[in-house]
Amino acid sequence: MRVKDKTALVVGAGSIGAGIGNGKAISVLLAREGAKVLAVDRNLDAAKETQRLVREAGGICEAHQADVAVSADVTGMVQACLTHFGGCDILVNNVGIAEVGGPVELSEEAWDRVFNVNVKSMFLACKHVLPLMEKQGSGAIVNISSLASTRWGGVPYVSYGASKAAVNGLSRYVAMQYAAKGIRVNSVLPGLIHTPMIVEPLTRFYGGDADRMIALRDAMSPTGKMGEAWDVAHAVLYLASDEAKYINGIELVVDGGLSQQSSSPVPQV
Ligand SMILES: NC(=O)c1ccc[n+]([C@@H]2O[C@H](COP(=O)([O-])OP(=O)(O)OC[C@H]3O[C@@H](n4cnc5c(N)ncnc54)[C@H](O)[C@@H]3O)[C@@H](O)[C@H]2O)c1
Repeated sequence: MRVKDKTALVVGAGSIGAGIGNGKAISVLLAREGAKVLAVDRNLDAAKETQRLVREAGGICEAHQADVAVSADVTGMVQACLTHFGGCDILVNNVGIAEVGGPVELSEEAWDRVFNVNVKSMFLACKHVLPLMEKQGSGAIVNISSLASTRWGGVPYVSYGASKAAVNGLSRYVAMQYAAKGIRVNSVLPGLIHTPMIVEPLTRFYGGDADRMIALRDAMSPTGKMGEAWDVAHAVLYLASDEAKYINGIELVVDGGLSQQSSSPVPQV
């Protein structure tokens, strides 16, 4: 019961495919530890699937549809959190998309789409949740970034790396501005995690063979295996809980040690 009676707004709470992604694991774990969860997703069925998993685990969860790159949807989402639960103690910005391509291959539209979904969505969520948290005098925001924000990871997705670096900057600046108001903002930087999100774009990049893509990513990890969504969720739970009351503005890396390797093996495609 590490977040007992807290209200959590999890943005991007579904999964784009079968299996457990970060948003699903974060929602289930926060609820299992006592939080009331508003599971928000652009895809209502995906949010409802998360709601089902949370309720199966004995937790409290409502599902809500919103495209968080759209301002009106974000105000609706915050209002829904107030209506259902009366406040917002925890905001987890988990939404993120990846489009493979460098500056030459990537279209201008794809660059804008990635930045809107990965960065503007977090700006908008912060914009509308911070006044509530300020009024309450407390709050914890956790933004899901990526190890790709700090280093080359073997896949040329320039918009993804650049947008995740922007997430780190956004988090640090909001953390400093609101520290004295009892609000903490931290980023989580997952490394190689085996979630539904990686399957479609990376399988295509690694030549269309999903098993080979998974084997290559497992081999890149110092542990011999990619991490799981639960590893990311446990980091989020810690940062969202009062146990982390003096942790603010950090980038918590969840990568099995990948970032400590003197040179990271990049797979042959
Ligand atoms: N899997 C990895 O290896 C890895 C590594 C580093 C970082 N991450 C980060 O983890 C996060 C996502 O993990 P996941 O496994 O939950 O991914 P996922 O893609 O399975 O789930 C994210 C959910 O967000 C929703 N979504 C997308 N755009 C949205 C929008 N505009 N508005 C509302 N909802 C929207 C999707 O419908 C989906 O259900 C991303 O931020 C990603 O960058 C993942």
